[in-house]
Amino acid sequence: MKPAERREPPSRERPDSRIRERPAAPPDARTLPARYYRDPDVFRRERNRIHRVLWNAVGPVSDIPAGPGGYRLAEVAGDSLILARGPDGVLRAFHNVCRHRGTRLLEESAGCLAGSVQCGYHAWTYGLDGRLRRAPHMERTPGFRADDWPLLPARCEVRDGIVWVRIAASGPGLAEQSGPAAERLRPYRMEELTAVHEERYDLAANWKLVVQNFSECLHCPVIHPQLQALSHYLTGDNFPMTAGAVGSTMDLAHGAETLSTDGRLVGTPLPGLDSPARRRIGYEILLPNLMLCLHPDYVVRCFLDALAADRTKIRCEWLFAPAALEQPDFEPARAVEFWDRTNRQDWRVSELAQAGIGSSAYRPGPYSHREDQLWAFDRWLLDRLGDT
Ligand code: FES
Ligand SMILES: [Fe+2]
Repeated sequence: MKPAERREPPSRERPDSRIRERPAAPPDARTLPARYYRDPDVFRRERNRIHRVLWNAVGPVSDIPAGPGGYRLAEVAGDSLILARGPDGVLRAFHNVCRHRGTRLLEESAGCLAGSVQCGYHAWTYGLDGRLRRAPHMERTPGFRADDWPLLPARCEVRDGIVWVRIAASGPGLAEQSGPAAERLRPYRMEELTAVHEERYDLAANWKLVVQNFSECLHCPVIHPQLQALSHYLTGDNFPMTAGAVGSTMDLAHGAETLSTDGRLVGTPLPGLDSPARRRIGYEILLPNLMLCLHPDYVVRCFLDALAADRTKIRCEWLFAPAALEQPDFEPARAVEFWDRTNRQDWRVSELAQAGIGSSAYRPGPYSHREDQLWAFDRWLLDRLGDT
């Protein structure tokens, strides 16, 4: 950052009456060693012990063409999956891997299947329920039974308008994994909202740096003056971290109606919200890969795809209530511009963190007592990796 751009936190502007004490990080709390952000072996262990074991939010259900045979491909922890609607309308997830010699079955990212999936190599053919229906030249192979060779399934659920996938055969249920965060999300009724805009970002940063950046606002006065003007960085509450979620709130400043370029509402108020929810912004991370910014009148949701130890792709959507879209003067640009700018500020500083951690001079540093959620997230990570 250039010196001329440096900003000091405006400590004399604190709205002291609204600052609430939070659980503090312990005095000896330190950031993680560099290998957790750089080492391909740590990244591989994360995939095996986190991303393949937990439910991942893979995208909006509206991505999948309606009707039987509608499908899209999704990547989870480096694995290609087919998300396809069966003849019964049920959405199922299968590995995009032929059971004969392992060939990838589908290449087109989305489309409509005419009742089956056929491998392009030797024409093994699978039903939309995953069963192997046809396997040419296998009829004289001793002991071969088509029923023994279905497509390998992944667990698949739809909730909040999002497709969730868990690769591992065993693990927590989606409700168990989400814990109280699912209840906090419910009033926003995301399944009823419409995405009116989407941005995709490609970051040279580890996915955990993005999560950690999202889990504190001490940086807000420094890099997000537009956010700080509408929602003071020391307000709000942190919810206790659970096995699958990190959540917090921040209050809207007096006179601010939402987070937008002018602080005025962009959409119509979301109908499920009570009065307190209309005066605050909710921030939720459903681990390992969904980040949500919850406003009185819209939701921004970001799907993270951890591609490598130092590379993360992010897809962000801006969602509004149908009533907002019917307003003749509805114009989402004030919300889109606000969060696109804020996101880019966050992504940039996450990339700078990745760069600094890559230096031989990096050593774990001390957390602020207000960085309690980052410290809790680090404990969660070490616990999942078995590194405690
Ligand atoms: S590899 Fe798919 S049919 Fe042979
Ligand atoms: Fe930020």
